[in-house]
Amino acid sequence: MAVRDEDRLLDLEVQLVPMRRRHLRSVMRIEVQVYPRPWSLSLFMSELALRSTRVYYVARVEGVVVGYAGLMMTVDDGHVTTIAVDPAWHRHKVATRLLLALARQAIARGATSLTLEVRVGNKAAQELYRKFGFRPCGIRKNYYVETNEDALVMWADDVDSDEYAERLDRIESSVPGRTLIEEPRAW
Ligand SMILES: CC(C)(COP(=O)(O)OP(=O)(O)OC[C@H]1O[C@@H](n2cnc3c(N)ncnc32)[C@H](O)[C@@H]1OP(=O)(O)O)[C@@H](O)C(=O)NCCC(=O)NCCS
Repeated sequence: MAVRDEDRLLDLEVQLVPMRRRHLRSVMRIEVQVYPRPWSLSLFMSELALRSTRVYYVARVEGVVVGYAGLMMTVDDGHVTTIAVDPAWHRHKVATRLLLALARQAIARGATSLTLEVRVGNKAAQELYRKFGFRPCGIRKNYYVETNEDALVMWADDVDSDEYAERLDRIESSVPGRTLIEEPRAW
């Protein structure tokens, strides 16, 4: 990485705030760039309406939305529903910051495991998830029908343990710059 990029990372201040309807235009701008089958605006709106079981954050830099991620809680599990970063902001640990915040929200709400699906070919995302302790646990054949791709199902277990809390702390301490978090309202 060039010295200038290093400086940019160290100076970076990323704000995580609960996703609101007013962010959705920016969210959709990123969504259509990064996913072959983007979620619709109405799908995001219906997710945001499910306040008791969902947590959605956007990441902002100088007021501009650069990424977002979501979590669906079931009884014991936190399911990461989506995570995406503006291509202009990749490799700035934006997804790492978002996933840290979601994992901590899931744990605070009683999750003992975290799970997600990822395209078998999406090695970048799998690498990110591996750092968070997710392991491949199965394949859902042809899950992404539009591209004929299988989904890898990944799980991180015992996320309520001290060891997992230490893992999250280690990840957090490796993230450069600052992250300011506005927590969602109590559920
Ligand atoms: C996957 C994605 C969310 C990662 O966002 P990001 O903010 O660039 O990720 P981070 O900077 O936090 O990266 C954390 C780690 O993930 C891994 N990673 C991220 N992008 C990678 C890439 N292109 N190639 C290899 N590893 C990658 C690396 O281990 C990285 O750590 P490092 O930079 O210290 O090597 C982003 O590439 C994206 O939006 N992709 C399109 C949408 C998508 O695929 N979402 C996941 C759906 S399941």
